Amino acid sequence: MDPAFVVAPVNRRVFGSFVEHMGRCVYTGIYEPGHPTADEDGLREDVLDLVRELGVTTVRYPGGNFVSGYRWEDGVGPVADRPTRLDPAWRAVESNAFGLNEFMRWAVRAGVEPMLAINLGTRGLQEAVDLLEYTNHPGGTTLSELRVEHGAREPHDVRMWCLGNEMDGPWQLGHKTADEYGRLAAETARALRQFDPGLELVACGSSSRAMPTFGAWEATVLEHTYDLVDHISAHAYYQLHGDDHASFLASSVDMDRFIQQVVATADHVGARLGSDKRVDISFDEWNVWYLEQKVGDAPTAPRDWAVAPRTSEDAYTVLDAVVVGSLLITLLRHADRVTAACQAQLVNTLSLIRTEPGGPAWRQSSFHPFALTSRHAVGTVLDLRLDAPTLATDRHGPVPLLDAVATHDADSGRLAVFVVNRHPSEPVSFTSSLRAFGGATLLEAVVLADDDLTATNTQDDPDRVVPRGHPDASVAGEALLADLPPASWSMFVLD
Ligand code: AHR
Repeated sequence: MDPAFVVAPVNRRVFGSFVEHMGRCVYTGIYEPGHPTADEDGLREDVLDLVRELGVTTVRYPGGNFVSGYRWEDGVGPVADRPTRLDPAWRAVESNAFGLNEFMRWAVRAGVEPMLAINLGTRGLQEAVDLLEYTNHPGGTTLSELRVEHGAREPHDVRMWCLGNEMDGPWQLGHKTADEYGRLAAETARALRQFDPGLELVACGSSSRAMPTFGAWEATVLEHTYDLVDHISAHAYYQLHGDDHASFLASSVDMDRFIQQVVATADHVGARLGSDKRVDISFDEWNVWYLEQKVGDAPTAPRDWAVAPRTSEDAYTVLDAVVVGSLLITLLRHADRVTAACQAQLVNTLSLIRTEPGGPAWRQSSFHPFALTSRHAVGTVLDLRLDAPTLATDRHGPVPLLDAVATHDADSGRLAVFVVNRHPSEPVSFTSSLRAFGGATLLEAVVLADDDLTATNTQDDPDRVVPRGHPDASVAGEALLADLPPASWSMFVLD
């Protein structure tokens, strides 16, 4: 490690998350009127406390697949007048009791930057510019005065807007070909920029690297939108398949290749268009998600329409948390091109935070690597030279046994090192040269590891999985030394 070798400044937007009207993320998640901790707006204070502790910076809203059938007007104005609708994305009944202005109030209280997604599934350009005018215009027009009438005197001034969601996916309401979407995204972006040239716009990239259209989709969409957008999105979810721990622990290798290939595709389009502009990546959905059932799970019956049903309430294990830590390492390592990212999702639905209606809120295992990385990854991301043995994996081929990133804050002199040992069953000794950081001392060393990789945090045992002090980390001479347990995530902070 050397402070002279820098990838890019840490972009705080990389510590984003996602609130979708999906399952119980909103209802009985962040919003539950009548809950003992709810404020006068029905926002759960216990959840707000955890969100602030988590260090989330940017939150994408309101979807996700949900947004592709959403009429934003349904969620504003007097709650009693709001329509109840069917949400086909998640087969849910949507009361619309929570909408745009409630989300903005929540975002202010949580101290996060809102990032709004626009419906380009069932809707188009006119509804998008209406939403922008309602949200951001100060006043004096019918739509902006309607917002004032709805209790939001000041414009919300949302800077970052997603032009639809996963439009490459056949499951998406209003799914389109790359050409159809690219045209619509370009027209919508052009119109939004006529209202405010300074907006930051995100075009839909691929829903995963495994999509049959991956690569071609980005190229076509960017041919249409290159000069009109700032970011292309990427989404990725990983899970343990059977007992293949080694492949699962190497999930970030897939994310790394995904990022490299999107960057190459975007730059290729830029070259073809003769443009000096650069389009960056908004990795605005990523996480571990048990989309395929775990071995031994009972088959699920087709779901009927329900209000805020329990959907994808995955209880994350130690192993899942280690993978989440390594995905964050990968996102940070690409700080030069990944300029925003949203862990999906914040509460209850494939979440970092769990709640029970009327009951407690608690931290999932994966809350911890996220919170610690957000708190300590400050300053610039360093370009490391990593020398590690190779581990064979079924899904990703041979991969480096270690995954690591470091950040350095020139102002405070703080150095933070994040490392994952991907070996499922063997420890590894880790050494890092501190020659370029003369006299650095170890301030904090923690490790997330466990003899039981399936352990989870539950309502009854909310702190079963927490990071512990590293038993044998030290600075000796000009080196940081530690033994990394099998399947572990570690953080070292030095001064
Ligand atoms: O985050 C859950 C869902 O995953 C989102 O609604 C969708 O965009 C993605 O497929």
